[in-house]
Amino acid sequence: MSEKIEALKAEISAAKAKTQDELEAYRLKFISRKSVLGDLFADIKNIAPEERKAYGQSVNEVKQLAEEKFKELIAGLESSDSGGKSSAPVDLTLPPNINLGTVHPLTYIHNRIVEIFQKIGFNVADGPEIEDDFHNFTALNFPENHPAREMQDTFFIESNPDIALRTHTSSVQIRVMENQKPPFRTLAPGRVFRNEAISARAHCFFHQVEGFFVDKNVGLVDLKQTLYYFAKELFGQDTKVRFRPSYFPFTEPSAEMDISCNICKGEGCNVCKYSGWVEILGSGMIDPNVLENCGIDSEEYTGFAFGMGIERIAMLKFQVNDLRLYSENDVRFLNQFKHLS
Ligand code: DAH
Repeated sequence: MSEKIEALKAEISAAKAKTQDELEAYRLKFISRKSVLGDLFADIKNIAPEERKAYGQSVNEVKQLAEEKFKELIAGLESSDSGGKSSAPVDLTLPPNINLGTVHPLTYIHNRIVEIFQKIGFNVADGPEIEDDFHNFTALNFPENHPAREMQDTFFIESNPDIALRTHTSSVQIRVMENQKPPFRTLAPGRVFRNEAISARAHCFFHQVEGFFVDKNVGLVDLKQTLYYFAKELFGQDTKVRFRPSYFPFTEPSAEMDISCNICKGEGCNVCKYSGWVEILGSGMIDPNVLENCGIDSEEYTGFAFGMGIERIAMLKFQVNDLRLYSENDVRFLNQFKHLS
């Protein structure tokens, strides 16, 4: 029996662990509940009673030796270069296994729009998502109780109906114009809110980009040329554009801009409802009242403005048929935009 113990002591003293796997093998053999020491302790019943004490002592010595060695092996592994994680040599020629995220399609479209307008001298302005009635409606020439307000129902605070979540980024037009002096060539992207039932085509929040250009002698020609340039840059040089008369309280005259359907190239499909055209933005010459509300002399300055929905543009560009997909964080959807990164 003592030979067995001596052999074990020698084995423990000589033990080495260069990897986590070797350390684990050592632990199983000498430390765990099912270790060889367990067997030695169990053997005690086969030992003659008068020798049991001495036997127990030597088994305890082995146990102590095994534990000390275990600590030593752990310390040795921790200080070694590989961190003891793997015995496999590192292959530095392998590509790194890094899972980078992808650019969100809305971020991509936002960046593209900003890039296109920056090329022709537009800067970018920001404004609050929580707005007051003046900046969201009144200064934009929405008379109180006018039905146009109804079209942009939003979320109000019961105790203070003057405060609301902005329904459009046109409010930033007012904030910039009341605080700075013309000329302006400004883009205002951001999140907006509406009290809408959520469906494939409508959501209670979405994103818009507002743009406005105010200077001396700005006319409808400037509006058309600017938006014409934008549509071709974003959707391709063969894109056709048309303007349809429309109504917005803050512009006069107002127009909606359609582009030739980029999906069927004008042939007719269910996206363009077989008309060959899809609407992409609202626009118009800024109503003199709006300029005056911001302290700008409307005899001296004129300007145009436009507003578009980022989700809508992204839907047309990427043929996404459900608005809700943009905010569900489903990686099966998001992974399809890997090529944009
Ligand atoms: N604010 C409008 C909306 O949310 C969009 C818009 C239309 C903005 C015409 C404009 C504009 O600046 O001229 O429906």
